[in-house]
Amino acid sequence: MNDFANIRRPSGIESIQSDLKKIGFTMSSDVLTDSILRTLAASKPGGSFLELGTGGGLSTAWLLAGMDSDSTLITIENDETLYEIAKKHLGTDPRVDVRYMNGGEFIQTHMQRKFDLIFADTWPGKFYFINEVLNMVRIGGMYVVDDLSPFLLGRKNM
Ligand SMILES: C[S@@+](CC[C@H](N)C(=O)[O-])C[C@H]1O[C@@H](n2cnc3c(N)ncnc32)[C@H](O)[C@@H]1O
Repeated sequence: MNDFANIRRPSGIESIQSDLKKIGFTMSSDVLTDSILRTLAASKPGGSFLELGTGGGLSTAWLLAGMDSDSTLITIENDETLYEIAKKHLGTDPRVDVRYMNGGEFIQTHMQRKFDLIFADTWPGKFYFINEVLNMVRIGGMYVVDDLSPFLLGRKNM
């Protein structure tokens, strides 16, 4: 089976990639991860989503591609250049709230909020404030992380 054969990329992806290439940003999620994110977002109509670590908005674009018109997404980035790229490409979509701030600060000030899906793709929410973020996942919701290997978790025999 070729996992890459039938992937339909959201429109606008190439222009985000082009801007990210110009600044040498290489930390965007890969296309299979993004494709799963789109599917998971589609499984929660009217959902409330949170992304920690927007980057330049590539994974954000995939989440948006899965979301219906009643769903909303907050995405957090603490690098101004990346935030500006994401805002430029995705900021006109009324479903998304792109925020330039520290993810840890967002978590600490929104612990009572519940989300149907949290994509934790940066330090806060993935390597620290983990319990706090897990408590922000609605019952039946999903917590998704990327770029974690058994080695990184210190569980080499998994
Ligand atoms: C793996 S990249 C995110 C990639 C993005 N989700 C994608 O797939 O296109 C992690 C991002 O987190 C940002 N970041 C690092 N520390 C952060 C923090 N404390 N709060 C918010 N964002 C942070 C980095 O600037 C970087 O853009």
